[in-house]
Amino acid sequence: MSPDSPVQDRITWYWDQHAPAYQQFQEQRLAHPDYDAAWTRVWRDALPGDTETVLDVGTGTGHAALTIAALGRRVTGIDIAPAMIAFARDNARRRGHDITFVQGDAVEPEAPGAPYDALVSRYLLWTLPDVDVALRNWRRLLRPGGRLAVVDAPWHVGGMRHSDTDPRARAYDAEARRALALAEADDITAWKERIIAAGFADVEVTPLTELFELDGVHGVATDHHRTLQHLITARNPSTR
Ligand SMILES: C[S@@+](CC[C@H](N)C(=O)[O-])C[C@H]1O[C@@H](n2cnc3c(N)ncnc32)[C@H](O)[C@@H]1O
Repeated sequence: MSPDSPVQDRITWYWDQHAPAYQQFQEQRLAHPDYDAAWTRVWRDALPGDTETVLDVGTGTGHAALTIAALGRRVTGIDIAPAMIAFARDNARRRGHDITFVQGDAVEPEAPGAPYDALVSRYLLWTLPDVDVALRNWRRLLRPGGRLAVVDAPWHVGGMRHSDTDPRARAYDAEARRALALAEADDITAWKERIIAAGFADVEVTPLTELFELDGVHGVATDHHRTLQHLITARNPSTR
């Protein structure tokens, strides 16, 4: 990875080298009964009862995929970083979940098993260079009437600021920040507007206050700020 690499390559490099630390933090959260219960409620409420197949885009170490598989849904996870996929597979194996994990790009996902009943994505849209292309492609991966459920937040209100020694400074430099439509957005309505523009219907935003309160008690990952996260749900209209 060099400073001349394309933006996505630098972002992929960042997440690939960060995977062990990410795994450690997410494992702690998954093992915490209050967080586990809160995330289980988030996904159970977000996914209609007749949801059988779910695609988790930008799955990372599999946090959403694992929680949703535990609800009895058949899950496929996709991520661009090989080290993330390796952790996700191991996490599923240790828990006895039969989840398919594939390496690939969220913007143009080639997802085995499409169309899905639901497509979920946690903490990904903020770091995507082509949010609008991705959202239109995600619609095509959903069956008519299928559910989109995104969790994200305006993580960097006022702009991203990383110290020179933070590897995020290499990946999320000025060029990258210009390319990422949502990285420095200051309100969740920016996500909502793009989801509507991609052709989704019934777009609803729900603040995840329970998780915000838990973060107040237990803290957040190193070098992160406590931020109110939101669930955005939407429906793929029957027209294609
Ligand atoms: C903040 S992590 C979130 C991981 C996981 N969804 C979770 O909730 O823990 C962002 C993830 O997006 C992945 N990612 C970044 N750009 C991507 C892309 N273009 N396609 C697929 N995955 C991508 C990274 O590799 C990383 O695993």
